[in-house]
Amino acid sequence: MKGKVVMITGGSSGIGEAAAIRIADAGGRGIVVARDEEKLADVRKKITDAGGFVKTYSCDITEYAANDKLAKDVLKEFGHVDVLINNAGRSIRRSLALSYDRFHDFERTMQLNYFACVRLTMNLLPAPRRRARTGTSSTCRRSVADERAAVLRVRRVEAALESFARCAASEFHDENVHFTIINMPLVRTPMIAPTKLYEEMPTIISPDEAADMIADAIIRKPQRIATRLGVISEIMHLVMPKMSEVVMNSAYRMFPDSAAALGKREGEEQRPATREAMIFASLMRGIHW
Ligand SMILES: NC(=O)c1ccc[n+]([C@@H]2O[C@H](COP(=O)([O-])OP(=O)(O)OC[C@H]3O[C@@H](n4cnc5c(N)ncnc54)[C@H](OP(=O)(O)O)[C@@H]3O)[C@@H](O)[C@H]2O)c1
Repeated sequence: MKGKVVMITGGSSGIGEAAAIRIADAGGRGIVVARDEEKLADVRKKITDAGGFVKTYSCDITEYAANDKLAKDVLKEFGHVDVLINNAGRSIRRSLALSYDRFHDFERTMQLNYFACVRLTMNLLPAPRRRARTGTSSTCRRSVADERAAVLRVRRVEAALESFARCAASEFHDENVHFTIINMPLVRTPMIAPTKLYEEMPTIISPDEAADMIADAIIRKPQRIATRLGVISEIMHLVMPKMSEVVMNSAYRMFPDSAAALGKREGEEQRPATREAMIFASLMRGIHW
């Protein structure tokens, strides 16, 4: 990591913050992007107090003009980005049956979790590609010291972004630009705080453990990082789709929507998870219900 320029969106909280700290600890030159200036100042202080390097940018990446300016400013200052971690995202846990009149939920998740990531990736891709081309012929060698090519990764769970990453990975493979998809299990961060049900779940990983998965992606550059159970459930979905549907449906019935999703006011209780549901969640470690 030493000296590598690593840009992480949503790096002021939760998984992104833990990853930004890990990158600085390893000697990387972190670029942290988020909207709230105060939260950015907090993470900047934590990293610089520990002797690390970080530069923060306040930007709403869903605003295309701001997204373009961010990329332009970063490239002007750093010349290139070695690793992009598309981490900023929003998550809405609400059944389809409660979403008939909530088309805006689909729009706003796509806006941040897909379009903003694609925009930023496309804004930054030309620079690493140029570097890869102008780098020495050692670009494809795995010796880190010799490696000149820029590396760019995408992380998000959405199917649309996964498809984009797969296409891009195939196109840029021989230019030594790599994409890794991380299927993150449940992580205890401010994002999942509104879902009271998760407070009782025994199987949620910490932001530091999530940062380990990101560090692993940066070091090994695999195509995908997922939990073993996540891979098994994906295979089950391909081999026995109907059976997989039955299992998922049983799980869906076990885990109720949150009070907020049900339209209840603050303070109103949601149905607690049953013992059966908790055992199921322990067995299915890391899967989001
Ligand atoms: N926590 C989990 O269990 C879990 C599991 C799987 C995947 N994920 C994914 O992992 C990512 C990080 O989640 P987290 O749990 O760490 O969430 P978090 O603690 O809520 O952090 C979200 C970060 O994204 C930033 N952000 C939000 N909207 C933005 C925008 N429009 N432009 C720029 N930055 C924006 C936030 O800062 P500002 O609000 O200041 O902009 C914050 O730094 C998300 O994509 C999430 O979907 C989380």
